[in-house]
Amino acid sequence: MPEFKKIGVLTSGGDAPGMNAVVRAIVNCASQNGVEVMGIYEGYRGLLEDDMKLLEPQDVANSFSRGGTILYTARCLRYNSPEGVREAYNKCRELGIDGIIAVGGDGTFRGATDLAKAGIPTIGIPGTIDNDITATDYTIGYDTAMNTVVDMCDRLRDTCESHARCDIVEVMGRNAGYIALNAGIAVGATAILLKEFEYDEDAIIQKMIDERKSNRARSFIIVMSEGLDGYGSGNYGEELAKKVEARSEEQGCLIETRFARLAHVVRGGSPTLTDRLIGSRMGAEAVKLLLEGKSNLVVCQRNGRITTSEIKYALALDTMFKNEYAFKKCPSPKYNREKNLEGFDEATIKQMEEYCEKKYQDMKDLYKVANTLAFMD
Ligand code: F6P
Repeated sequence: MPEFKKIGVLTSGGDAPGMNAVVRAIVNCASQNGVEVMGIYEGYRGLLEDDMKLLEPQDVANSFSRGGTILYTARCLRYNSPEGVREAYNKCRELGIDGIIAVGGDGTFRGATDLAKAGIPTIGIPGTIDNDITATDYTIGYDTAMNTVVDMCDRLRDTCESHARCDIVEVMGRNAGYIALNAGIAVGATAILLKEFEYDEDAIIQKMIDERKSNRARSFIIVMSEGLDGYGSGNYGEELAKKVEARSEEQGCLIETRFARLAHVVRGGSPTLTDRLIGSRMGAEAVKLLLEGKSNLVVCQRNGRITTSEIKYALALDTMFKNEYAFKKCPSPKYNREKNLEGFDEATIKQMEEYCEKKYQDMKDLYKVANTLAFMD
């Protein structure tokens, strides 16, 4: 079993509230075990360019209440090549870094598995507000992001109600609609528009007009996930707002409609208890795994328990879920099932399919609840 004297931690990809709780947990757990922690700045860039600092428990003591990441983050193209990975491997050897913990999303895990294959033990921790890592029920930052959306929508609701308006609120999530779906239910959205499920725009607009005419509703909030028009103009929300106004005016009851893109606001802010807690648990688990001699794993939460998946498995599962379930109707043109599942036996593939099926069914069930509550069934 390798002896660990020093480990490195980096945060990469989009930042997420709770990443600092992860870093704090890693520093404190490693320190308890007599292991030093190098905080690597701006993800893999810091590793290649030797931009790092030894972190002591006092350096991270009060960081967990802060949003963002104290290690900063960046996307590093140079690392995404065999030469970049070799350079990173050499850097770890040169600096005596015996293992790496990488916090981020799927891109971060691809980088981590490359480094593991090169010979540096690595563990990944899911940190992204999008909650779009299929192997885990939870990614750090998700709860804070949803709560921020709820807070913003509540504010918008106040002014919508005063002015008898509709607000169309676009929220982040990249390709996944989890933030929009959950927060939409929590703010009593009239409709929740996601890429994962079809919806009837005309029926939604008509419903608002009918409700307004019969005095059943004065204000409306529509929550939509970003990128709904695929590679379109990127103005879908604005266009929908104009459509609501035009249709309602045609029927003699104008519903004034505004569009709000919450964008990066959703990524900032002090992490909630959930993000601090799960971040702390995952950070502690990652150190334990490395010290036990494990590598090439991603820490996950499933059914309330902290567990792991192999990174290769987690990435293939994710690709399967997105292309064969969530976005079955518009899979990536690059998707190749055989290539994605190379090296997995039939029993494992069956298990992956069942897992994806269940995950997608759970989302569908929740979407149905959302529609029932919004009287859109
Ligand atoms: O993955 C996190 C995320 O915030 C997505 O929700 C969003 O699509 C993307 O990152 C935005 O990326 P950037 O910060 O590069 O604009």
